[in-house]
Amino acid sequence: MDGTHDERPLRGLNFAFSGGTAGIGLAAATALARRGAALLLLGRDRDRGDRAVAAVREAGAAEAVFCAADLTTMAGVGRAIEAIGAGARRCTGWCTPR
Ligand SMILES: NC(=O)c1ccc[n+]([C@@H]2O[C@H](COP(=O)([O-])OP(=O)(O)OC[C@H]3O[C@@H](n4cnc5c(N)ncnc54)[C@H](OP(=O)(O)O)[C@@H]3O)[C@@H](O)[C@H]2O)c1
Repeated sequence: MDGTHDERPLRGLNFAFSGGTAGIGLAAATALARRGAALLLLGRDRDRGDRAVAAVREAGAAEAVFCAADLTTMAGVGRAIEAIGAGARRCTGWCTPR
């Protein structure tokens, strides 16, 4: 690490963010969006999710999808796993600030 930001393009790579619709999760997702990553944002509130999807698309995400899932419940965890597997895309990383 030399202290500089990594700006390599992330086009073609897919990342899932739990807690990705606000705060530090959305900030991190937006940083990857600027580099062209495709993003799945997880959270409970659909309006907040829709706003976050619009924000990361605006920042340059190749694709952005919201999945409503309360990760304190087994049903929510199941929905998240289903969304990550949707379309049989290879998930490069699952980022979880929360
Ligand atoms: N901000 C910082 O500088 C900082 C520093 C160190 C550590 N942290 C830690 O990092 C975590 C996030 O902090 P933050 O300030 O970014 O929080 P935040 O602004 O409150 O964002 C929390 C995110 O998590 C989602 N979320 C909350 N409960 C959830 C649940 N049960 N299931 C699914 N999604 C859920 C929220 O969406 P919904 O409400 O729509 O579900 C939102 O997307 C916290 O644990 C905090 O203690 C933060």
